[in-house]
Amino acid sequence: MKIGVVATGHVGVVTAVTLAHLGHQVVGTDIDQEKLATLRRGRMPFYEPGAEALLKEGVESGRLLFEDSIGALADAEVTFICVGTPPRATGEASLLAVEKAAVEVARQASSQTVIVEKSTVPAGTATRVRRSVSRERSDIEIAVASNPEFLREGHAVKDSLEPDRILVGADEEWVFERLRLVYKPLVDQGVPLFETNIQTAELAKHACNAFLALKVSFANALSFLCERADADVVAVADVMGADKRIGREFLNAGMGYGGYCFPKDLVAFERLASQLGYDFALLREVAAINEEATEAVLRKVKDALWNLEDKRIALLGLAFKPETDDVRFAPALALAKMLLDEGAEVVGYDPQAGANAKAEVPDLEIVGSALEALQDTHCAVLCTEWDEFRTMDLPAAKAAMKYAVVVDGRNVFDPTTVAAAGLTYYPIGRPSFS
Ligand code: UGA
Repeated sequence: MKIGVVATGHVGVVTAVTLAHLGHQVVGTDIDQEKLATLRRGRMPFYEPGAEALLKEGVESGRLLFEDSIGALADAEVTFICVGTPPRATGEASLLAVEKAAVEVARQASSQTVIVEKSTVPAGTATRVRRSVSRERSDIEIAVASNPEFLREGHAVKDSLEPDRILVGADEEWVFERLRLVYKPLVDQGVPLFETNIQTAELAKHACNAFLALKVSFANALSFLCERADADVVAVADVMGADKRIGREFLNAGMGYGGYCFPKDLVAFERLASQLGYDFALLREVAAINEEATEAVLRKVKDALWNLEDKRIALLGLAFKPETDDVRFAPALALAKMLLDEGAEVVGYDPQAGANAKAEVPDLEIVGSALEALQDTHCAVLCTEWDEFRTMDLPAAKAAMKYAVVVDGRNVFDPTTVAAAGLTYYPIGRPSFS
């Protein structure tokens, strides 16, 4: 099937390369010429494991093209809109790019087609899109559908090719049929396909992210309590997670969730609820606990070091989570800013996100390895649980540091090993020791 993908951000590129891998003829568009040139050369514009191999495969086979004009999608049978939906000052998602892209696809379409919302949008967006599209074109049938993505950065290729489920919201049977053809290779392998009305699909996507954020905040709130009660939040989460109804995933206490999805989607969902006349206060509490989780780490650093002026602090991991170079809403950078405001000198290392972090926080010194970051520091904070930190040589770390203080913002280290290395240790929601 001939498929269009508007915008080659994280979701767009992964959608394009995986659909081409499934055998479709895909054209991705963007206004960023530099990014298009990179993609045409078979190079990924950002770090996403496994994506570059599929990109090369698509480009070399001729099944995947990148163009700078939506006009190239005129004969696409389905076009996925993957533009950004950044937050407005009010917290609502800005849907300007969604509207513009959809209207342009409609303007250029040469025959009956489906415009699919892939970007996360508030319930009701498709109705607005449909209205804008029908004002633009009434001579051909242009349907609107919702097909939210559930991709995690760092696992986006696997999440696309082996998803837990596929969700399609539409109002017409021919639209469902067309999207069934898009996903046939996956459905044939047993992936469940949920077909709902559009509002349900839009709302379900928000509900999933909000519930996952709720789990993380629940674990973080528990960590505050465990510290006061001398209990261990990791063991509590293990016990909870053994109950199949609860599940162990997303119960890891830490510095809080970040990234471009949870923080902004949660606020957008709360704003949507409020516009619909429901005060979803629980969502505000989830966000408040998340901020508290990062502040709690700052308090640990202060507890260990007292005054922060003239202290040198290392941040291990800067990306909002491992396996990505994305630093948007990264708790590590929020902490870096707080430490810098307190007068500390802050040095950071991340296997992938150093350059992005520097662009966001210019006063942050970036170095090329964990050991280099630790050199002559008074404290190290583990902010992102990259695998290479799990296997760190702790005695070597101790030898490099001025004060051997480690704040483990992701509970990565085994307390017994840390104790044996003679470090002062502040984990999250577990007993600290020196
Ligand atoms: C999230 C969802 O997991 C995807 O299903 C969804 O498609 C995507 O948002 C989106 O809406 O586009 P992502 O933002 O890539 O994906 O990251 P996650 O792996 O979900 O992690 C989110 C944050 O929660 C990270 O900062 C992570 O460190 C944090 N987290 C996660 C915890 O603090 N504790 C946990 O136990 C799990």
